[in-house]
Amino acid sequence: MIIQTVSLRNIRSYARLDLDLEPGLVLVVGANGAGKTNLLESLHVGTQGFSPRTRADAQLVRFGEQGGRIALRGPRGATNVELEVTVELREGKRAKLNGAPLRAAEQLRSEVATLVFTPDRLAVVKGGPAVRRAYFDRVLGRLTPSRAAISVEYAAAIAQRNAALRRTAAGYSSRDAIAPWTEQVAALGSKLVESRTEVVALLAPGFAERADELGLPSARMTYEGVSPTIAALEARLERDLERGATGLGPHLDDVLLTSGTRDLRSFGSQGEQRLTVLALLLAEATLIADRRGFAPLLLLDDVLSELDPARRSILAERVLGTGQTLITATEASSLPVDAAQLLEVSPGTVRVV
Ligand SMILES: Nc1ncnc2c1ncn2[C@@H]1O[C@H](COP(=O)(O)OP(=O)(O)O)[C@@H](O)[C@H]1O
Ligand SMILES: [Mg+2]
Repeated sequence: MIIQTVSLRNIRSYARLDLDLEPGLVLVVGANGAGKTNLLESLHVGTQGFSPRTRADAQLVRFGEQGGRIALRGPRGATNVELEVTVELREGKRAKLNGAPLRAAEQLRSEVATLVFTPDRLAVVKGGPAVRRAYFDRVLGRLTPSRAAISVEYAAAIAQRNAALRRTAAGYSSRDAIAPWTEQVAALGSKLVESRTEVVALLAPGFAERADELGLPSARMTYEGVSPTIAALEARLERDLERGATGLGPHLDDVLLTSGTRDLRSFGSQGEQRLTVLALLLAEATLIADRRGFAPLLLLDDVLSELDPARRSILAERVLGTGQTLITATEASSLPVDAAQLLEVSPGTVRVV
């Protein structure tokens, strides 16, 4: 969506903030600690229902207050939407879409797409397989909200099967108790492998193009997940009983990210890993716009200072054409192109320059 107005009450360092935003590229400048990340985080919570940096919602509430509120308004494709997220220390988090309460704040994810870059996101490239699995499963959910639940349901089936394995190994139940979970793992696991394969196939060409543009040549993503079958799961039942865990299936897969013949996880420099994350984000942004009919909101925090001037230009040119992007910097001169809007952040306030 494109945020036209945002209103914060007692969120992080903002007691009261009302701001009109422009579409296109919005440059957010301010000294360290001024509140740039707080502002971007608020927009993420307001559009997705959760913070990209903490699961502890209470941390979002301004110190000393009992609750806070984020309200946003703006167009999503051809229609206008109004979003509201409230966080109360006692009652937790709630969200409304166009005035109607949602079952859970996280449901906003299926309504609005927001992609975020923060330096923590480098973990997608340099972290272990679990981080990449979680990342690609979230991409799946953003591209096809109706399939967001597959990975969650699969994880639940694995947990149930593992529990059944341990009960059986301990002599508390018979092997028959494992069979229904084996079927579930095979069915949901196959769906998950299929979905991930599709997502990787969709994302790979754009990823390679964006990476190449940013100076990371021959970038590829490879997923070789194999659908777990009942027969294959049963063939390793003895080993699974011994370990008390299911040793086969997409909960063990990885997506390999490479440049030429180099695995970027182990052999990419910090700078190359950053470009990889950016290429992933930009490729996904294009796909979301194509498939869902509206461009995602892009929140790019602390990215410019680590890029050389040529790459800053390429990134800036690339996001100029999309719906709305907020990008932070400590100085306005960090951005080599003219932004649609310049926001100056100082503790507790944001000024439109
Ligand atoms: N819940 C909160 N209530 C009030 N202030 C907060 C809260 N959480 C963080 N802050 C303050 O916000 C400031 C950091 O803001 P941040 O957005 O990270 O700055 P930057 O501009 O460097 O990104 C710190 O001074 C911190 O104390
Ligand atoms: Mg910051």
